[in-house]
Amino acid sequence: MKPVRKAVLPVAGLGTRVLPGTKTVAKELLNVVDRPILSYVVAEARAAGIEHFVFVTGRGKGAIEDYFDHHIELEAQLKAKGKTDLLEEILSELPKAGEMSFIRQMQPLGLGHAVWCARDVVGDEPFAVMLPDMLMEGPTPPLAQAVKAHEETQGNIIVVEPCPPGEAHKYGVVALESQSGRLNRMTGMVEKPPKGTEPSNLFISGRYVLEPEIFAILESQEKGAGGEIQLTDAMARLMKTRPFHALEYEGVTYDCGDKIGLLRANVALALKRPDLGAEARAAVEALLKA
Ligand code: UTP
Repeated sequence: MKPVRKAVLPVAGLGTRVLPGTKTVAKELLNVVDRPILSYVVAEARAAGIEHFVFVTGRGKGAIEDYFDHHIELEAQLKAKGKTDLLEEILSELPKAGEMSFIRQMQPLGLGHAVWCARDVVGDEPFAVMLPDMLMEGPTPPLAQAVKAHEETQGNIIVVEPCPPGEAHKYGVVALESQSGRLNRMTGMVEKPPKGTEPSNLFISGRYVLEPEIFAILESQEKGAGGEIQLTDAMARLMKTRPFHALEYEGVTYDCGDKIGLLRANVALALKRPDLGAEARAAVEALLKA
């Protein structure tokens, strides 16, 4: 079986839940502590063995390409001022030449359409999809857990997690053949099911490993929930002929596309940082007492 070498990162959305900042700054470049959300997601992908990153971008998102390129003046300044630690940190994030591709979606018609835009660069091999506004951490990086599950099942993997009680109708939710352990064969999935009709409390949380057959299905996929071309609808069609498993991953997700999720990510990651944790804790405690 072919290994998972490529990851598609759709970054063409408008980020309306975190406006007005996202009017001019790509949501995926908003900082969590001191680096863009995207920086964490790319590190997670590298830890899973990803060798090629396919960004699906749109108008006003050019800064994403710039983030992963040299900044000659900045690098010269840091060098001249002897700030070698910072310089090394910045250089360590740069891709090798040819490791990243950028494709324009042109119109944000939905996640399914964004993934379809990557078809020629991905080609005929299994690939990961990572929603870059979902910052995910775990004892082993969540995408690495998904890649391992793909090796075990030789099929499509959807990473899921339990949603807070009564909230399943807000998400893409999976239906399982039976539930034992963390990796279970799926029988269906539905995007934003009407309240009371949810097939489980497990929602699709932002990491997938998909077989390339999904592209032919996306080509003819009609608009679904919210008037968008939904990846969930295309996966549900592919499931009729190919196996899908839901992986309840070990770890935690911060939905950085949401105001409170972004705040949680900033606080949680600052508290965990060896260089900032103590100061961050003191600051948060002082705020809570005020
Ligand atoms: P979201 O629905 O969370 O992103 O899509 P959004 O549309 O930017 O957010 P809101 O709801 O308006 O606040 C998940 C990911 O898919 C990308 C987004 O950039 C985001 O990273 N996406 C979404 C696309 O690339 N193209 C689309 O047409 C839609």
